[in-house]
Amino acid sequence: MDYFEIEGKNQLFGDITVSGAKNAVLPLMAASILNDKPLTISNVPKLSDSITMGNLIEEMGGKVSFDHSNITINPKNLNTPYAPYKLVKTMRASFYVLGPLIAKFGEAKVSLPGGCAWGPRPVDFHIDGLKKLGVEITLEAGYVIAKTKKMIGNKIVFPKISVGATGNVLMAAVLAEGQTEIHNAAAEPEIQQLCLLLNEMGAKISGIGTNILTIQGVKTLGGVESIDVIPDRIEAGTFLIAVAATGGKVKLNNVEPKHMESVISLLRKSNIDILEEKDSIIITSNGLDIKACDMETHEYPGFPTDLQAQWMLLMSLASGNSTIKENIYFDRFTHILELNRLGCDVHLEGGSATIKGNRSLFGAHVMSTDIRASAALIIAALCAEGSTNISRVYHIDRGYDKIEQKLAKVGAKIARKK
Ligand code: EPZ
Repeated sequence: MDYFEIEGKNQLFGDITVSGAKNAVLPLMAASILNDKPLTISNVPKLSDSITMGNLIEEMGGKVSFDHSNITINPKNLNTPYAPYKLVKTMRASFYVLGPLIAKFGEAKVSLPGGCAWGPRPVDFHIDGLKKLGVEITLEAGYVIAKTKKMIGNKIVFPKISVGATGNVLMAAVLAEGQTEIHNAAAEPEIQQLCLLLNEMGAKISGIGTNILTIQGVKTLGGVESIDVIPDRIEAGTFLIAVAATGGKVKLNNVEPKHMESVISLLRKSNIDILEEKDSIIITSNGLDIKACDMETHEYPGFPTDLQAQWMLLMSLASGNSTIKENIYFDRFTHILELNRLGCDVHLEGGSATIKGNRSLFGAHVMSTDIRASAALIIAALCAEGSTNISRVYHIDRGYDKIEQKLAKVGAKIARKK
């Protein structure tokens, strides 16, 4: 299994081009099921997750081809509404196909996704929302068995905002009869792009970017030739935090600053110099006088939970102590153990993390556990005295396209080893 070897204490200078957003590609691929026309999705990061979703669509009879950073999906012969455990267990977002399969076939058999590195990941909102549209759902031997004669629009109020449940229910509601309102809908940019694709297919969705989506059901959806994936705000945020921590000056290209306002403003509050341009961001840091700032994760447009681990590392280098409150996944703190092995001093107190600042980090052998925790370990290694070995980098490859090449290009001493 590949591992990363990293020599710390090198500042970062130069340009990085951010890839397309993983969390936008996956729902867009699922949405391609809803009609019979080929769809090309461009600016797609080369990640194992997009390949897994492609394998799932092929398993169901669709045709998927990759060409550099483009994916073309032809769902014409997609005729088996069945998503097996062997694929769903490797990537929870496979569950996104449930809504579109029901909408297209009136039935589906989709494996329940597993949990993940930090804990349970329930899908009760997805199931309850689909039931509200008139879908009969039973759970049998780890599978969701869904069937419906006709979906009827309804008012759905999620108990709390859920990106996946919004996507799944949305992709069913667009072909339901009548009007559906989704309250506590996710407003994440990735969901906004999904709404825009569906509307281009002929759906009638309003309230895009707010927490109330109104959908007028239509009978069928037409084809869309192509769609360009939005930039990955989480990858971009990861690189911003990396430069803030190591020091240096880097220009991020192919970013959407307005998708990153909460991250940019908190970095500025921590004394980091950030210049926003139309589709790029220039960050300058001396990696020294970083101001400690407490942080709470929130649904978009709040500070993203997917940057929580990376922020924790940055605050370990800040000149003072701080806290993190994780409001999306209360147990998303497994990365504390590995970060502390590199010299951080973080501990949990009543559901919040308390982070000691002014830490000196030292290289060690550490292990990745999940996509974003691994990114935090990489940043820690870039700031540590000596060398660090990070094992199980397959976690990182699920969410970051050639991260080690992008970092090496701006001066990081990082290499992938077999
Ligand atoms: C998406 O996961 C992202 N994944 C996650 O990114 C991200 O952390 C998460 O949204 C929150 O922003 C993709 O887009 C592929 P949720 P998702 O449903 O949709 C609870 C990454 O690293 N909940 O918004 O699964 C849930 O437990 C990944 O790229 C229920 O209780 O997340 C959580 O507390 C990690 N029941 C909260 O809602 C449900 O049926 C938000 O989860 C669904 C969710």
